Parts: sequence; structure tokens; C-alpha cells
Amino acid sequence: MRMVDIIERKRDGVTLSDAEIRFFVEGYTKGEIPDYQASSFAMATLFRGMNKEEIATLTDAMMHSGDVIDLSSIKGVKVDKHSTGGVGDKTSLALGPLVAACGAKVAKMSGRGLGHTGGTLDKMESIPGMKIEVNEEDFIKQVNEIGIAIIGQTKKLVPADKKLYALRDVTGTVESIPLIASSIMSKKLASGSDAILLDVKFGRGAFMKTLDSAKELAETMVEIGDSLKRDTRAIITDMNQPLGLAVGNALEVKEAIDTLNGHGPKDFVELVRNAGSIMLQQAGIAKDMEDGYRLIDNAIADRSGLEKLKALVKAQGGDESYITNPEQFPVAKNIVEIKSDVAGYVERIDSLEIGLSAMRLGAGRETMADKIDMSAGILLKKKVGDKVEVGEVLALAHTNHESFAKELEDIRHAFNISPAEIKVDPIVHAYIKK
Ligand code: URA
Repeated sequence: MRMVDIIERKRDGVTLSDAEIRFFVEGYTKGEIPDYQASSFAMATLFRGMNKEEIATLTDAMMHSGDVIDLSSIKGVKVDKHSTGGVGDKTSLALGPLVAACGAKVAKMSGRGLGHTGGTLDKMESIPGMKIEVNEEDFIKQVNEIGIAIIGQTKKLVPADKKLYALRDVTGTVESIPLIASSIMSKKLASGSDAILLDVKFGRGAFMKTLDSAKELAETMVEIGDSLKRDTRAIITDMNQPLGLAVGNALEVKEAIDTLNGHGPKDFVELVRNAGSIMLQQAGIAKDMEDGYRLIDNAIADRSGLEKLKALVKAQGGDESYITNPEQFPVAKNIVEIKSDVAGYVERIDSLEIGLSAMRLGAGRETMADKIDMSAGILLKKKVGDKVEVGEVLALAHTNHESFAKELEDIRHAFNISPAEIKVDPIVHAYIKK
């Protein structure tokens, strides 16, 4: 078999065989197929697409390119959640402890942030002492003991995706549904959970710009999970404004703690209740949406979710007193108000602009080598639908930088204010399952 023939066949719209797809994945992972051929293959796939069978094979081959975690020694149904990446997305930090408090097993491998989106691991590291590199044996032991662990992916998980994703990033081939779906699902399937809930975001600041493209990606991933015998479901959620009020590492952890104390922002609580209810159904704990909402609401009201977050932090070496007393988190030297110069109603808050501004204030990294300032970020004071007067504060910029005038300007521009009242859509636009 020759790689050039496989590239030409994909270029010409021919359906590839199982053997051809596996030849590519294995050869590329071992370094036998060079980057230039892999990049040409990715571009041909971007233009020609793949059918369901090809995508399932690509996912399976990528999943088996490295370690596949065996979680069978954890008792109970293991549920996982994956978000396609958003701004202010601290969902795992509140949702994980809540569903674990209700009895589901959460064995989660998370990632770091890059560019305008944050990563759960970085947020967790704003808690002093928190360890995210945990070996497989300790990971399993922790989930068996307390019902939850959130750790970094092991280096040997889906090496094919590590290489291919880095290549796609610099060859204009990220935006291909078969490639995104196989990339995400290979990692989720290799990390071993029985059930997966995908939170596919759409809008400015999300991979998928439109509701339709987000639905297409979600349906493709649900199909892959189903064909590989995992209960996979998806929700399509709105990223036309940041999630909740806080953007930036320590600020977001504090917001997750507030939420577990019953004081979360409305849209974030809505997302957590919906995702939580679905995961509890996947775990066989809730019988329907209403039952799931009730269980999540109880775990907030009786603080069992908060206790579970404390247990998680303690088990991974973190200082749990930060969860009880969040005022200990470092606070940026400069906290600057951004005020509105017009009156009206907030119509949209450009998540991409807010995410990039937070990154430039110190909260994120432009390249993987950059260091993060845990205290930096943005706190929104207004959300879509809110009424605004001239001179009212729209947001607060938190930074240790000395000069930040451009970021303040960008944050102000991220707010679109309309003279007319704005109807606020629910955060979850669709729920997709087989
Ligand atoms: N996230 C991933 O893990 N892979 C993609 O291809 C896109 C988003």
C-alpha cells in the first residue's frame, strides 16, 4: 500500500477502505508517513469529507494508536463530559462534583487552554498544591474511593491525534467535521468512560460558528460513539456570550464554588442542571430530565456537591481551605471598570473578543510555552438581555500588567448594545441522542 495512492483516492472522492485508513494512522504515528503527505491527506479529507464508516474507522484507529485506559475495576457507570471549548467554561469544576455527589463515577481527563479558550487543568492549578499528573493506578483508586478524579491526559493517550492536531493547526485543516469528530471522540473513547456527554458550542468564540454546523458535528460524534457501543449524547449550547460572569482561572474557580454554594449565574446554572440531569440518566441514577434536575438541585442545596469538590481537591494534593475560603485566591493588582457610553440592552457579548482580551490581560497563553497569571481575567457585570445606562459598568478587567488600554477598548467593543429589548434564548438549543 502506498500513501500517495490513498491521498489520490481521497482527493478523487473515493471511499477509503478500513485497511487504507489504518495504514495512514499507523504509519503517521510511527513516523513512517511524512508530515507533507499527512497534511495533503487532511486537506483532501477537508474537501471531500468522509462517510460514517470511514469516520468510525479513523476514530477507532486513532483511539488504538496509544494507551486505552481500562476503567472496568471502577464500580458503577463511569460518565464523562467534553466541551468543544468555550470562553468562561468552568463547567467541569461544578458539574463533575455535582454528578459525583449524586452517585455517578467521574473519571475525567482534561486539557489545557490555548488562545481564547481556557482549560480545566489550568483552572484547577490555581488551587495551591493541586496535582493533575496522576498515574493510572492512583486515578482508578481515587475514583473508587471518592467518585471523582480530574487529571491531565497521559502522554501515551492517542499519540496519533497529538501529531495530527498539531499538523492541522498549521495547515488550515482544523475545520473538517470528520477530523474534529475523530480527534475528540478518539480521546474520549481511549480514556475509558462508559457514557459520554458532549457539549458542542456554537457562535463567536466557538469552533462551530452556526447552530447547523454544531448540530452536524454533534450528530457525527454521537454516531461514532454509538457505533463503538458507548452511550454518547450531545447538547448544543450557545457561545454568543461567555458562559457565566467570570473569565480567567482563579475567577472561574471562584464562580464554580459560588455555584456549588447556590449562588451561580443563571446561564451557568441552567447549563449545569441540563448537563447534570442527562449524565445522571446516562448513569442510570435519574429516570428522566425532571428527576435529574431535582437531584442536581438537591446536591447544590445540601452542599454535597461542594463537599465533593473539597474531597477532589484534597485527594489531588490541593489546599481544600481555598474551597471554604475562596477569598484566599490571589487578586490582581489592577481591577479596572469598563463603562458603557450608550444606553440600551445588551444584545451580544463577543466571546472571541472577551477570550482574547482575557488572554492578553495575562489569563491565557498564545503559545503552549507561555505562563498564565492565575489572578488575571474579566468579570462581566452585564449579560445578554440586561438593561444598561450610560456610564454603567459593563465589566471589570483584572490584570497585573502595567498597560492595558487596548484590552479595555476591546472589551468595551465586545458589548453590542441595542436600543430595543432583547429576548434571551435558553442556553441549550438542542439535545441529541440515539
Ligand atoms: N478539539 C479537539 O480535540 N480536536 C479538534 O480537532 C478540535 C477541537
